[in-house]
Amino acid sequence: MQHLIISAHPNQGSFSNSLVDALKKDSEHNDVKVVVRNLYDLDFNPVLSSADLAQIKNGETPADIAKEQKLLGEADIISLVYPLWWGSFPAVLKGYFDRVLTNGFAFKVTPNGAEGLLKGKKAFLHTSMGNSVEEYENKGILKAFRQIHGQEVFGFVGVEVAGHLFYPRISESSPEMKEKYIEEALGFYKTVMLDEEVVDIVAK
Ligand SMILES: Cc1cc2nc3c(=O)[nH]c(=O)nc-3n(C[C@H](O)[C@H](O)[C@H](O)COP(=O)(O)O)c2cc1C
Repeated sequence: MQHLIISAHPNQGSFSNSLVDALKKDSEHNDVKVVVRNLYDLDFNPVLSSADLAQIKNGETPADIAKEQKLLGEADIISLVYPLWWGSFPAVLKGYFDRVLTNGFAFKVTPNGAEGLLKGKKAFLHTSMGNSVEEYENKGILKAFRQIHGQEVFGFVGVEVAGHLFYPRISESSPEMKEKYIEEALGFYKTVMLDEEVVDIVAK
C-alpha cells in the first residue's frame, strides 16, 4: 500500500501542512509507505509550455513530469491538501494537473470518449478555506467545488474520489478546532478503508 500526499500550501505552519504531517504519521503508523510531494518545496514548474506539448506529442515526457507520473502510478491512495484560492486550486496545483495528467498516461481518447487510465486508486481531497461552508452552500457552489475539484480531475482519470473534506473559516479557528478537524480527517480515512476491507471479505 502506497500513499501519495500532494501538498499545495506555501507555509510550513499552515493548517494544511499540519494536516499533511498528521496524515503522513498516521499512514506510517499503519505500515503504509508514504510519499509527500510539497509542490512549493519542489519548486514545481506549473506552466504547461509549448515545448512540453511538443515533447509529449512525440511520445517523450519531460523529466520532472515523468517523476510525478511514476509516483502517481505507484500510489494506491492519493491525498490532496490545499487552500481554496479564488474558488479554486492554488496555481501551482492547477499547473501540476495541467502538466502531469497527460493524454496517454492519465487518460486516453477512444471512439466512445475519454477513458481514465488511473483506475484502482482512491483520492481524498482536503480544502481549507476562509469562508464558511454555508456561504458556499447558499451560493449553490459547494457542489460545484466537489464536481470540479474532484470528479473533473480525479474522476476523469479513473480515480475514485473517496471523500472531499472542507475546513471552513480556518484562519479564525482555534488550535483545538484545528486539532479536532485533523482527528476527524484521520477517522474518515479509517472509515473508508475499513468499509473496503469488509466489502473485500464479503466478496471472497
Ligand atoms: C490568494 C488567496 C485567495 C483566496 N481565496 C479564497 C476563496 O476564494 N475562498 C475562501 O473561502 N478563502 C479564500 N482564501 C483564504 C484561504 O483559503 C485560507 O486563508 C486558507 O485556507 C488558509 O489555509 P491554512 O489554514 O492551511 O493556512 C484565499 C486566500 C488567498 C491567499
